[in-house]
Amino acid sequence: MAASGEPGRQKQEEVAAVVVVGSCMTDLVSLTSRLPKTGETIHGHKFFIGFGGKGANQCVQAARLGAKTSMVCKVGKDSFGNNYIENLKQNGISTEFAYQTEDAATGTASIIVNEEGQNIIVIVAGANLLLNSDDLRGAAGAVSSARVVICQLEVTPAASLEALTLARSRGVKTLFNPAPAAADLDPRFYALSDVFCCNESEAEILTGLPVSSPADAGKAALVLVGRGCQVVIITLGAEGCVMLSQSEPVPKYIPTEKVKAVDTTGAGDSFVGALAFYLAYYPSLSMEEMLRRSNFIAAVSVQAAGTQSSYPHRKDLPLHLF
Ligand SMILES: Nc1ncnc2c1ncn2[C@@H]1O[C@H](COP(=O)(O)OP(=O)(O)OP(=O)(O)O)[C@@H](O)[C@H]1O
Ligand SMILES: *[C@@H]1O[C@H](CO)[C@@H](O)[C@H](O)[C@H]1NC(C)=O
Repeated sequence: MAASGEPGRQKQEEVAAVVVVGSCMTDLVSLTSRLPKTGETIHGHKFFIGFGGKGANQCVQAARLGAKTSMVCKVGKDSFGNNYIENLKQNGISTEFAYQTEDAATGTASIIVNEEGQNIIVIVAGANLLLNSDDLRGAAGAVSSARVVICQLEVTPAASLEALTLARSRGVKTLFNPAPAAADLDPRFYALSDVFCCNESEAEILTGLPVSSPADAGKAALVLVGRGCQVVIITLGAEGCVMLSQSEPVPKYIPTEKVKAVDTTGAGDSFVGALAFYLAYYPSLSMEEMLRRSNFIAAVSVQAAGTQSSYPHRKDLPLHLF
């Protein structure tokens, strides 16, 4: 660590190792006994507001593990946007490139959950879709000096492609999470991904193959590696994950802990954020070991309620992870 009095080193310390170019969404959650029918008004028994969006979730998890992080995103010039920026700051994330716009509202996910845990969700991406080339040019220095850049698909594909292209041209490791997945994903995403990490349903959509076991995931990963990614990881919920790399195209299955899951919402984002932390700070670990540790951290997150509220902090985790 640099001594704090050294001006030359001070700047170095402020550089974000993990930069996320992605989404922020405010979750508006109503709990009801059942889901309403068309035209019907029902009363719920509880309402709460949460912080979500895949980009910000992943950034928060990386930050809580101790990563220096920066979030490149766009929210509205509204109370949800102000509160979101405050939430990023509270998590120690640099908000230098968290832009605010008057042209759209902060992204929202309006969620109704019934007693069986079934839900209906409406997402209005809003300001997320206005993150543009000018914004990325503003953040180009941060992207170029990062160790890892993470992107997903809750901002425009053009913005994600631009960020990944810049990162790649500067030798910054790229971690791409094709979520939410579309069957017609631009093929450039594969070639731009050092690490391509998706879940079972996304792997199915992208490959057209059924994915419901580690063996299936291995087959789908082989197809995805064939499209140009260096490393493919498919997460399998309580089963852990499968990885396959260009350099060693044999699937490896990495199982995870058996735990009592309370709320798995956001587990995938906890996993991706943790993986970014290891890629940035423990680059000499084997990919398998990074995935074992990311599995562990995501398994901790499913044992508490909520999304970001369930993500563990470094101080609460066993030392063997660091
Ligand atoms: N029930 C569970 N027990 C232990 N670990 C889990 C469980 N569910 C998820 N995980 C961990 O979280 C990782 C990601 O989970 P999953 O594959 O369900 O992602 P996801 O579908 O993107 O998550 P979500 O959509 O729920 O946020 C898994 O690879 C695993 O490490
Ligand atoms: C995979 O992630 C998507 C979000 O991109 C989610 O809608 C879907 O339920 C997840 N699939 C599984 C099997 O968890």
